[in-house]
Amino acid sequence: MTRIVLLFVLLSLNYHSHADLIADTCKKSEYPDLCNSTLRSDPRSAKADAKGLTRIMLEVALTKASTTFNQVKNLLSKTTEPVLKRCLAICADMYDSIVEEIPKAIQNVGLDNNEANHQADLALTDVDTCESIFSEEPNKRKSPLTANNNAVRHLVAIAEDILVSLG
Ligand SMILES: *[C@@H]1O[C@H](CO)[C@@H](O)[C@H](O)[C@H]1NC(C)=O
Repeated sequence: MTRIVLLFVLLSLNYHSHADLIADTCKKSEYPDLCNSTLRSDPRSAKADAKGLTRIMLEVALTKASTTFNQVKNLLSKTTEPVLKRCLAICADMYDSIVEEIPKAIQNVGLDNNEANHQADLALTDVDTCESIFSEEPNKRKSPLTANNNAVRHLVAIAEDILVSLG
Protein backbone atom coordinates (compact mmCIF):
# COMPACT_ATOMS: atom_id res chain seq x y z
CA MET A 1 0.00 0.00 0.00
CA THR A 2 2.65 2.55 1.01
CA ARG A 3 4.65 1.57 -2.05
CA ILE A 4 1.71 2.37 -4.28
CA VAL A 5 1.22 5.71 -2.55
CA LEU A 6 4.91 6.43 -2.94
CA LEU A 7 4.70 5.52 -6.62
CA PHE A 8 1.87 8.00 -7.16
CA VAL A 9 3.74 10.69 -5.26
CA LEU A 10 6.80 10.10 -7.43
CA LEU A 11 4.76 10.05 -10.65
CA SER A 12 3.02 13.27 -9.74
CA LEU A 13 6.33 14.92 -8.77
CA ASN A 14 7.69 13.79 -12.09
CA TYR A 15 4.65 15.20 -13.89
CA HIS A 16 5.00 18.52 -12.11
CA SER A 17 8.69 18.76 -12.80
CA HIS A 18 7.97 18.38 -16.55
CA ALA A 19 5.20 20.95 -16.43
CA ASP A 20 7.58 23.29 -14.65
CA LEU A 21 10.38 22.64 -17.12
CA ILE A 22 8.32 24.07 -20.00
CA ALA A 23 7.12 26.98 -17.86
CA ASP A 24 10.59 27.71 -16.49
CA THR A 25 12.23 27.32 -19.88
CA CYS A 26 9.79 29.62 -21.63
CA LYS A 27 9.75 32.25 -18.89
CA LYS A 28 13.43 32.88 -19.58
CA SER A 29 13.05 33.06 -23.35
CA GLU A 30 12.71 36.13 -25.54
CA TYR A 31 9.20 35.12 -26.73
CA PRO A 32 7.58 33.36 -23.76
CA ASP A 33 4.09 32.96 -25.26
CA LEU A 34 5.31 31.55 -28.58
CA CYS A 35 7.68 29.25 -26.66
CA ASN A 36 4.87 27.99 -24.43
CA SER A 37 2.31 27.48 -27.19
CA THR A 38 4.85 25.81 -29.51
CA LEU A 39 6.10 23.35 -26.89
CA ARG A 40 2.66 22.55 -25.48
CA SER A 41 1.24 21.78 -28.91
CA ASP A 42 3.85 19.03 -29.41
CA PRO A 43 2.99 15.85 -27.46
CA ARG A 44 6.69 14.94 -27.14
CA SER A 45 7.36 17.99 -24.96
CA ALA A 46 5.69 16.46 -21.91
CA LYS A 47 8.49 13.90 -21.53
CA ALA A 48 11.36 15.92 -22.97
CA ASP A 49 14.32 17.31 -21.07
CA ALA A 50 15.81 20.69 -21.95
CA LYS A 51 17.81 19.17 -24.83
CA GLY A 52 14.63 17.56 -26.15
CA LEU A 53 12.76 20.87 -25.91
CA THR A 54 15.53 22.56 -27.91
CA ARG A 55 15.26 19.91 -30.63
CA ILE A 56 11.47 20.20 -30.76
CA MET A 57 11.72 24.00 -31.08
CA LEU A 58 14.26 23.65 -33.92
CA GLU A 59 12.10 21.05 -35.67
CA VAL A 60 9.12 23.40 -35.60
CA ALA A 61 11.43 26.16 -36.93
CA LEU A 62 12.58 23.81 -39.71
CA THR A 63 8.99 23.03 -40.72
CA LYS A 64 8.23 26.75 -40.87
CA ALA A 65 11.45 27.38 -42.84
CA SER A 66 10.56 24.63 -45.33
CA THR A 67 7.07 26.03 -45.97
CA THR A 68 8.60 29.50 -46.34
CA PHE A 69 11.16 28.14 -48.82
CA ASN A 70 8.29 26.67 -50.86
CA GLN A 71 6.43 29.97 -50.68
CA VAL A 72 9.55 31.79 -51.94
CA LYS A 73 9.99 29.37 -54.86
CA ASN A 74 6.31 29.68 -55.69
CA LEU A 75 6.43 33.50 -55.68
CA LEU A 76 9.63 33.44 -57.70
CA SER A 77 8.05 31.29 -60.40
CA LYS A 78 5.18 33.79 -60.76
CA THR A 79 7.22 37.00 -60.65
CA THR A 80 8.45 38.79 -63.74
CA GLU A 81 9.20 42.19 -62.21
CA PRO A 82 13.05 42.29 -62.16
CA VAL A 83 13.69 43.89 -58.76
CA LEU A 84 11.21 41.70 -56.92
CA LYS A 85 12.58 38.68 -58.78
CA ARG A 86 16.10 39.53 -57.62
CA CYS A 87 14.94 39.91 -54.00
CA LEU A 88 13.10 36.59 -54.11
CA ALA A 89 16.10 34.87 -55.72
CA ILE A 90 18.25 36.04 -52.81
CA CYS A 91 15.63 34.76 -50.34
CA ALA A 92 15.57 31.42 -52.17
CA ASP A 93 19.36 31.21 -51.70
CA MET A 94 19.00 32.13 -48.05
CA TYR A 95 16.29 29.55 -47.39
CA ASP A 96 18.26 26.93 -49.29
CA SER A 97 20.95 27.45 -46.61
CA ILE A 98 18.54 27.78 -43.70
CA VAL A 99 16.97 24.35 -44.36
CA GLU A 100 20.49 22.89 -44.09
CA GLU A 101 21.65 24.94 -41.11
CA ILE A 102 18.69 24.11 -38.86
CA PRO A 103 19.16 20.31 -39.24
CA LYS A 104 22.88 20.78 -38.45
CA ALA A 105 21.85 22.69 -35.33
CA ILE A 106 19.45 19.86 -34.38
CA GLN A 107 22.16 17.22 -34.85
CA ASN A 108 24.53 19.10 -32.56
CA VAL A 109 22.17 19.72 -29.63
CA GLY A 110 23.66 17.93 -26.64
CA LEU A 111 26.80 16.93 -28.56
CA ASP A 112 28.27 20.32 -29.33
CA ASN A 113 26.00 23.08 -28.12
CA ASN A 114 28.34 25.81 -29.35
CA GLU A 115 28.16 24.38 -32.86
CA ALA A 116 24.37 24.08 -32.56
CA ASN A 117 24.26 27.74 -31.54
CA HIS A 118 26.57 28.70 -34.39
CA GLN A 119 24.36 26.97 -36.98
CA ALA A 120 21.28 28.64 -35.46
CA ASP A 121 23.07 32.01 -35.71
CA LEU A 122 23.82 31.39 -39.39
CA ALA A 123 20.13 30.67 -39.97
CA LEU A 124 19.15 33.90 -38.16
CA THR A 125 21.56 35.94 -40.27
CA ASP A 126 20.14 34.39 -43.45
CA VAL A 127 16.57 35.18 -42.38
CA ASP A 128 17.59 38.80 -41.73
CA THR A 129 19.36 39.03 -45.10
CA CYS A 130 16.19 37.84 -46.84
CA GLU A 131 13.99 40.30 -44.96
CA SER A 132 16.26 43.34 -45.29
CA ILE A 133 16.85 42.92 -49.03
CA PHE A 134 13.35 44.26 -49.64
CA SER A 135 14.12 47.56 -47.90
CA GLU A 136 17.18 48.38 -49.99
CA GLU A 137 17.07 51.77 -51.65
CA PRO A 138 16.26 52.88 -54.28
CA ASN A 139 13.80 50.02 -54.81
CA LYS A 140 12.45 49.75 -51.29
CA ARG A 141 9.24 47.75 -51.15
CA LYS A 142 7.11 45.78 -48.74
CA SER A 143 8.46 42.31 -48.06
CA PRO A 144 5.93 39.60 -48.91
CA LEU A 145 7.73 37.33 -46.42
CA THR A 146 7.72 39.36 -43.20
CA ALA A 147 5.30 37.16 -41.28
CA ASN A 148 7.11 33.93 -42.14
CA ASN A 149 10.57 35.43 -41.68
CA ASN A 150 9.54 36.64 -38.22
CA ALA A 151 8.07 33.26 -37.32
CA VAL A 152 11.28 31.44 -38.30
CA ARG A 153 13.44 34.05 -36.57
CA HIS A 154 11.47 33.88 -33.32
CA LEU A 155 11.43 30.06 -33.20
CA VAL A 156 15.19 29.84 -33.79
CA ALA A 157 15.82 32.61 -31.23
CA ILE A 158 13.82 30.68 -28.60
CA ALA A 159 15.85 27.55 -29.39
CA GLU A 160 19.03 29.58 -28.84
CA ASP A 161 17.71 30.82 -25.50
CA ILE A 162 17.17 27.21 -24.39
CA LEU A 163 20.60 26.21 -25.74
CA VAL A 164 22.23 28.87 -23.58
CA SER A 165 20.60 27.30 -20.52
CA LEU A 166 22.18 23.93 -21.44
CA GLY A 167 25.66 25.48 -21.11
C1 LIG B 1 0.90 27.88 -21.85
O1 LIG B 1 0.00 27.29 -22.78
C2 LIG B 1 -1.05 26.55 -22.17
C3 LIG B 1 -1.80 25.80 -23.26
O2 LIG B 1 -1.80 26.48 -24.46
C4 LIG B 1 -1.91 27.51 -21.36
O3 LIG B 1 -2.96 26.81 -20.75
C5 LIG B 1 -1.04 28.18 -20.30
O4 LIG B 1 -1.79 29.14 -19.60
C6 LIG B 1 0.18 28.84 -20.93
N1 LIG B 1 1.08 29.29 -19.89
C7 LIG B 1 1.62 30.49 -19.90
C8 LIG B 1 2.57 30.78 -18.79
O5 LIG B 1 1.41 31.31 -20.78
